[in-house]
Amino acid sequence: MRFLISAGPTREKIDPIRFISNHSSGKMGYALAAAAKAAGAEVVLVSGPTQLTPPENVTFVKVESAAEMAKAVHQYAPESDIIIMAAAVADYRPVKTFTGKMKKTPGNLMLELERTEDILLNLGKHKRPDQKLVGFAAETSNVVENAIEKLKKKNLDWIVANDVSRHDRGFGSDHNAVTMISANGDVCEVALSDKKTVARRIIRKILQD
Ligand code: PMT
Repeated sequence: MRFLISAGPTREKIDPIRFISNHSSGKMGYALAAAAKAAGAEVVLVSGPTQLTPPENVTFVKVESAAEMAKAVHQYAPESDIIIMAAAVADYRPVKTFTGKMKKTPGNLMLELERTEDILLNLGKHKRPDQKLVGFAAETSNVVENAIEKLKKKNLDWIVANDVSRHDRGFGSDHNAVTMISANGDVCEVALSDKKTVARRIIRKILQD
């Protein structure tokens, strides 16, 4: 069984010293990679910038931007049986990246942003019938309803919904609580636990499916 797992944030450069990013630490994605490896799978972990050490014996691909993550994910996707997108991919990037440090000028600054590729949406469009595609939904309200919309829109087999409005779980935390929803309508609640335990439960459920 070959897993492709994405983790961490992406960084979208404004200039050589500034970027747009988010608070993803990579802990959830790295825990999933470790759990998949422990379950006997071959694992490719595509990761944005984090402070973490990758699990042993996984193929580790370090990326920075959403465009780099898209390139790496599309490279490994065709040979993967199960793809889990746990990365917090930036939805927007600056239209223009300054080559030198952007100078301060009086008054406000308008930064024009453009959409990045929705990697998961494109994976869903080209999914093989024997491939399982799993997304995460980071939500701050109507968590399950919004997650189900993403499940359908992106043609996923499972969506893992997490409430990222709380400080005791989600972004940056060592803990998480998730609701897994399948395209067949199965629902599996994973109560608040450390991310390693949550990851083991997620991997077990996907493999049982
Ligand atoms: O890294 P940690 O600190 O451990 O935190 C874990 C987490 C909160 C980041 C993780 O559990 C999580 O929720 N990851 C998904 C974050 C996210 O971007 O969610 P979203 O609802 O905006 O995106 C939905 C799905 O589309 C995700 O699977 C995402 O990887 C994917 N996506 C989003 C945008 C984009 N341009 N391309 C994508 O593939």
